[in-house]
Amino acid sequence: MDRQQISRLAHAHHPVAAPLADDSVARLLGRATARAEEGRAEEGRALDLGCGEGAWLLRVLAAQPRWQAVGVDLDAAALTRARETATALGVERRIGLHHLDAREFTAKEPFGLVLCVGSTHAFGGLVPTLAAARELLAPGGRLLVGEGFWQREPSRAALDGLGATRDELADLAETTDRVVADGWTPVLGHVSTEQEWDDYEFSWTGSLAEWALDHPGHPDAAAAREAADRHRTEWLHGYRGTLGFVTYLLRRD
Ligand SMILES: C[S@@+](CC[C@H](N)C(=O)[O-])C[C@H]1O[C@@H](n2cnc3c(N)ncnc32)[C@H](O)[C@@H]1O
Repeated sequence: MDRQQISRLAHAHHPVAAPLADDSVARLLGRATARAEEGRAEEGRALDLGCGEGAWLLRVLAAQPRWQAVGVDLDAAALTRARETATALGVERRIGLHHLDAREFTAKEPFGLVLCVGSTHAFGGLVPTLAAARELLAPGGRLLVGEGFWQREPSRAALDGLGATRDELADLAETTDRVVADGWTPVLGHVSTEQEWDDYEFSWTGSLAEWALDHPGHPDAAAAREAADRHRTEWLHGYRGTLGFVTYLLRRD
Protein backbone atom coordinates (compact mmCIF):
# COMPACT_ATOMS: atom_id res chain seq x y z
CA MET A 1 0.00 0.00 0.00
CA ASP A 2 1.66 3.26 -1.07
CA ARG A 3 2.00 6.31 1.17
CA GLN A 4 -0.36 8.41 -0.94
CA GLN A 5 -3.15 5.86 -0.57
CA ILE A 6 -2.54 5.56 3.17
CA SER A 7 -2.67 9.36 3.48
CA ARG A 8 -5.92 9.62 1.47
CA LEU A 9 -7.67 7.00 3.60
CA ALA A 10 -6.26 8.44 6.84
CA HIS A 11 -7.47 11.97 6.04
CA ALA A 12 -10.94 10.89 4.87
CA HIS A 13 -12.83 12.30 7.86
CA HIS A 14 -10.79 15.38 8.69
CA PRO A 15 -11.49 18.91 7.36
CA VAL A 16 -7.95 19.35 5.98
CA ALA A 17 -4.83 17.20 5.93
CA ALA A 18 -3.29 19.07 8.85
CA PRO A 19 -4.11 19.43 12.59
CA LEU A 20 -6.59 22.30 12.28
CA ALA A 21 -10.27 22.25 13.24
CA ASP A 22 -13.03 23.54 10.98
CA ASP A 23 -13.33 26.89 12.75
CA SER A 24 -9.55 27.46 12.65
CA VAL A 25 -9.54 26.86 8.90
CA ALA A 26 -12.50 29.21 8.47
CA ARG A 27 -10.88 31.97 10.55
CA LEU A 28 -7.58 31.80 8.65
CA LEU A 29 -9.28 31.76 5.24
CA GLY A 30 -11.60 34.57 6.24
CA ARG A 31 -8.60 36.81 6.92
CA ALA A 32 -6.62 35.48 3.95
CA THR A 33 -9.35 36.42 1.47
CA ALA A 34 -10.69 39.51 3.22
CA ARG A 35 -9.14 42.15 0.97
CA ALA A 36 -10.74 40.78 -2.19
CA GLU A 37 -13.82 42.73 -1.23
CA GLU A 38 -11.82 45.90 -1.79
CA GLY A 39 -11.80 45.06 -5.49
CA ARG A 40 -8.18 44.19 -6.30
CA ALA A 41 -8.55 41.75 -9.16
CA GLU A 42 -5.43 39.66 -8.48
CA GLU A 43 -6.58 38.99 -4.95
CA GLY A 44 -9.33 36.82 -6.39
CA ARG A 45 -6.78 34.18 -7.42
CA ALA A 46 -5.54 31.50 -5.03
CA LEU A 47 -2.82 28.90 -5.57
CA ASP A 48 -2.27 25.85 -3.34
CA LEU A 49 1.14 24.18 -3.63
CA GLY A 50 0.63 20.57 -2.46
CA CYS A 51 -3.16 20.92 -2.41
CA GLY A 52 -4.00 17.23 -1.85
CA GLU A 53 -7.76 16.89 -2.26
CA GLY A 54 -8.09 20.66 -2.52
CA ALA A 55 -9.82 21.16 0.82
CA TRP A 56 -8.48 24.70 1.38
CA LEU A 57 -9.15 25.89 -2.19
CA LEU A 58 -12.63 24.43 -2.33
CA ARG A 59 -13.52 26.33 0.82
CA VAL A 60 -12.22 29.53 -0.72
CA LEU A 61 -14.32 28.98 -3.86
CA ALA A 62 -17.45 28.05 -1.93
CA ALA A 63 -17.19 31.21 0.18
CA GLN A 64 -15.96 33.61 -2.53
CA PRO A 65 -18.01 33.49 -5.76
CA ARG A 66 -15.53 35.70 -7.69
CA TRP A 67 -12.37 33.80 -6.84
CA GLN A 68 -10.47 31.44 -9.14
CA ALA A 69 -8.14 28.74 -7.82
CA VAL A 70 -5.24 26.60 -8.96
CA GLY A 71 -4.04 23.49 -7.14
CA VAL A 72 -0.83 21.51 -7.70
CA ASP A 73 -0.08 18.06 -6.32
CA LEU A 74 1.81 14.88 -7.17
CA ASP A 75 -1.05 12.62 -6.07
CA ALA A 76 -3.28 12.01 -9.10
CA ALA A 77 -5.99 10.23 -7.10
CA ALA A 78 -6.21 13.15 -4.63
CA LEU A 79 -6.63 15.55 -7.56
CA THR A 80 -9.40 13.36 -8.99
CA ARG A 81 -11.15 13.59 -5.62
CA ALA A 82 -10.67 17.38 -5.67
CA ARG A 83 -12.29 17.55 -9.13
CA GLU A 84 -15.24 15.44 -8.00
CA THR A 85 -15.81 17.62 -4.94
CA ALA A 86 -15.51 20.77 -7.05
CA THR A 87 -18.19 19.43 -9.37
CA ALA A 88 -20.45 18.49 -6.45
CA LEU A 89 -20.07 22.04 -5.11
CA GLY A 90 -20.65 23.59 -8.56
CA VAL A 91 -17.26 25.38 -8.58
CA GLU A 92 -15.46 23.16 -11.14
CA ARG A 93 -15.19 25.99 -13.72
CA ARG A 94 -13.24 28.12 -11.25
CA ILE A 95 -10.52 25.62 -10.36
CA GLY A 96 -7.54 24.31 -12.31
CA LEU A 97 -5.79 21.23 -10.94
CA HIS A 98 -2.30 20.26 -12.08
CA HIS A 99 -0.63 16.90 -11.58
CA LEU A 100 2.84 18.31 -11.18
CA ASP A 101 5.78 18.65 -8.82
CA ALA A 102 5.09 21.93 -7.00
CA ARG A 103 8.74 22.94 -7.53
CA GLU A 104 8.10 22.98 -11.28
CA PHE A 105 4.95 25.08 -11.22
CA THR A 106 5.14 28.46 -12.95
CA ALA A 107 2.40 30.93 -13.84
CA LYS A 108 2.03 33.90 -16.19
CA GLU A 109 -0.07 35.82 -13.68
CA PRO A 110 0.80 36.10 -9.98
CA PHE A 111 -1.62 35.10 -7.23
CA GLY A 112 -3.16 37.21 -4.49
CA LEU A 113 -3.13 34.22 -2.14
CA VAL A 114 -0.65 31.34 -2.08
CA LEU A 115 -1.18 28.39 0.28
CA CYS A 116 1.17 25.64 1.39
CA VAL A 117 -0.14 23.96 4.52
CA GLY A 118 1.51 20.71 5.57
CA SER A 119 3.30 20.49 2.22
CA THR A 120 6.53 22.43 2.82
CA HIS A 121 8.47 19.14 2.49
CA ALA A 122 7.74 19.46 -1.27
CA PHE A 123 10.28 22.31 -1.32
CA GLY A 124 12.67 20.88 1.28
CA GLY A 125 11.37 22.90 4.24
CA LEU A 126 9.94 26.23 5.29
CA VAL A 127 12.54 28.70 3.99
CA PRO A 128 12.69 27.22 0.45
CA THR A 129 8.87 27.24 0.47
CA LEU A 130 8.91 30.96 1.27
CA ALA A 131 11.28 31.54 -1.65
CA ALA A 132 9.04 29.62 -4.06
CA ALA A 133 5.92 31.42 -2.87
CA ARG A 134 7.57 34.82 -3.25
CA GLU A 135 7.96 34.19 -6.99
CA LEU A 136 4.27 33.42 -7.40
CA LEU A 137 2.73 36.09 -5.19
CA ALA A 138 1.29 39.36 -6.47
CA PRO A 139 2.42 42.61 -4.80
CA GLY A 140 0.44 42.98 -1.58
CA GLY A 141 -0.53 39.29 -1.72
CA ARG A 142 -0.70 36.85 1.17
CA LEU A 143 0.88 33.53 1.93
CA LEU A 144 -0.81 30.96 4.16
CA VAL A 145 1.84 28.48 5.21
CA GLY A 146 1.59 25.69 7.78
CA GLU A 147 4.69 24.10 9.26
CA GLY A 148 5.75 21.86 12.15
CA PHE A 149 7.84 23.09 15.07
CA TRP A 150 9.20 21.68 18.33
CA GLN A 151 6.80 22.41 21.13
CA ARG A 152 9.37 20.97 23.52
CA GLU A 153 12.81 19.45 23.10
CA PRO A 154 12.27 16.19 21.13
CA SER A 155 13.13 12.92 22.86
CA ARG A 156 14.73 10.01 21.04
CA ALA A 157 11.30 8.32 20.91
CA ALA A 158 9.74 11.45 19.37
CA LEU A 159 12.43 11.67 16.68
CA ASP A 160 12.20 7.94 15.95
CA GLY A 161 8.41 8.13 15.74
CA LEU A 162 8.60 10.95 13.23
CA GLY A 163 11.62 9.61 11.37
CA ALA A 164 13.07 13.09 11.87
CA THR A 165 16.27 14.72 13.08
CA ARG A 166 16.40 17.48 15.72
CA ASP A 167 17.63 19.99 13.12
CA GLU A 168 14.71 19.52 10.73
CA LEU A 169 12.54 21.83 12.83
CA ALA A 170 13.04 24.62 15.37
CA ASP A 171 10.96 25.93 18.26
CA LEU A 172 8.15 28.43 17.62
CA ALA A 173 10.28 31.50 18.35
CA GLU A 174 13.12 30.41 16.06
CA THR A 175 10.68 29.28 13.34
CA THR A 176 8.97 32.68 13.43
CA ASP A 177 12.34 34.50 13.47
CA ARG A 178 13.30 32.66 10.27
CA VAL A 179 10.09 33.78 8.59
CA VAL A 180 10.60 37.39 9.64
CA ALA A 181 14.30 37.33 8.67
CA ASP A 182 13.20 36.24 5.19
CA GLY A 183 11.23 39.47 4.81
CA TRP A 184 7.73 38.38 5.82
CA THR A 185 5.34 39.85 8.38
CA PRO A 186 2.98 37.46 10.18
CA VAL A 187 -0.40 39.22 10.13
CA LEU A 188 -2.13 36.23 11.75
CA GLY A 189 -0.98 32.92 13.13
CA HIS A 190 -2.63 29.82 14.47
CA VAL A 191 -0.86 27.33 16.74
CA SER A 192 -2.72 24.03 16.67
CA THR A 193 -4.07 23.18 20.11
CA GLU A 194 -3.67 19.89 21.96
CA GLN A 195 -7.34 19.19 21.19
CA GLU A 196 -6.78 19.80 17.47
CA TRP A 197 -3.75 17.50 17.50
CA ASP A 198 -5.59 14.72 19.34
CA ASP A 199 -8.62 15.02 17.04
CA TYR A 200 -6.34 14.96 14.00
CA GLU A 201 -4.31 11.93 15.10
CA PHE A 202 -7.32 9.92 16.27
CA SER A 203 -9.05 10.78 12.99
CA TRP A 204 -5.94 9.78 10.99
CA THR A 205 -5.43 6.45 12.71
CA GLY A 206 -9.13 5.77 13.21
CA SER A 207 -10.14 6.41 9.59
CA LEU A 208 -7.40 4.14 8.29
CA ALA A 209 -8.19 1.37 10.80
CA GLU A 210 -11.91 1.63 10.06
CA TRP A 211 -11.30 1.29 6.33
CA ALA A 212 -9.43 -1.95 7.09
CA LEU A 213 -12.30 -3.15 9.29
CA ASP A 214 -14.81 -2.33 6.53
CA HIS A 215 -12.77 -4.12 3.83
CA PRO A 216 -11.57 -7.33 5.54
CA GLY A 217 -11.10 -9.18 2.25
CA HIS A 218 -9.15 -6.39 0.53
CA PRO A 219 -5.51 -7.24 -0.27
CA ASP A 220 -4.41 -3.98 1.46
CA ALA A 221 -6.51 -4.42 4.62
CA ALA A 222 -3.72 -5.90 6.75
CA ALA A 223 -1.22 -3.25 5.61
CA ALA A 224 -3.70 -0.46 6.40
CA ARG A 225 -4.35 -1.87 9.85
CA GLU A 226 -0.64 -2.24 10.49
CA ALA A 227 0.05 1.36 9.33
CA ALA A 228 -2.71 2.71 11.60
CA ASP A 229 -1.42 0.78 14.63
CA ARG A 230 2.18 1.83 14.01
CA HIS A 231 1.24 5.50 13.55
CA ARG A 232 -0.83 5.51 16.76
CA THR A 233 2.10 4.05 18.71
CA GLU A 234 4.60 6.53 17.20
CA TRP A 235 2.28 9.37 18.14
CA LEU A 236 1.22 8.32 21.67
CA HIS A 237 4.58 6.88 22.75
CA GLY A 238 6.65 9.35 20.75
CA TYR A 239 5.84 12.83 19.51
CA ARG A 240 2.53 13.72 21.24
CA GLY A 241 3.03 17.11 22.91
CA THR A 242 6.42 17.53 21.22
CA LEU A 243 5.50 18.18 17.60
CA GLY A 244 3.64 21.46 17.18
CA PHE A 245 2.06 22.95 14.08
CA VAL A 246 1.79 26.64 13.24
CA THR A 247 -0.10 28.19 10.33
CA TYR A 248 1.01 31.72 9.48
CA LEU A 249 -0.76 34.27 7.33
CA LEU A 250 2.11 36.31 5.91
CA ARG A 251 2.62 39.48 3.92
CA ARG A 252 5.68 41.19 2.51
CA ASP A 253 6.42 44.91 2.72
C1 LIG B 1 -0.23 16.56 4.31
S1 LIG B 1 -0.81 16.76 2.66
C2 LIG B 1 -1.49 18.40 2.75
C3 LIG B 1 -2.58 18.64 1.73
C4 LIG B 1 -3.31 19.99 1.85
N1 LIG B 1 -2.39 21.12 1.86
C5 LIG B 1 -4.19 20.04 3.08
O1 LIG B 1 -3.85 20.70 4.06
O2 LIG B 1 -5.27 19.44 3.06
C6 LIG B 1 0.69 17.00 1.74
C7 LIG B 1 0.48 17.01 0.23
O3 LIG B 1 1.70 17.41 -0.42
C8 LIG B 1 1.78 16.70 -1.64
N2 LIG B 1 3.17 16.76 -2.12
C9 LIG B 1 4.28 16.24 -1.55
N3 LIG B 1 5.37 16.53 -2.31
C10 LIG B 1 4.92 17.26 -3.38
C11 LIG B 1 5.56 17.88 -4.49
N4 LIG B 1 6.89 17.79 -4.66
N5 LIG B 1 4.78 18.54 -5.38
C12 LIG B 1 3.45 18.63 -5.21
N6 LIG B 1 2.80 18.07 -4.17
C13 LIG B 1 3.52 17.41 -3.26
C14 LIG B 1 1.30 15.30 -1.27
O4 LIG B 1 0.93 14.55 -2.41
C15 LIG B 1 0.13 15.65 -0.35
O5 LIG B 1 -1.07 15.74 -1.08
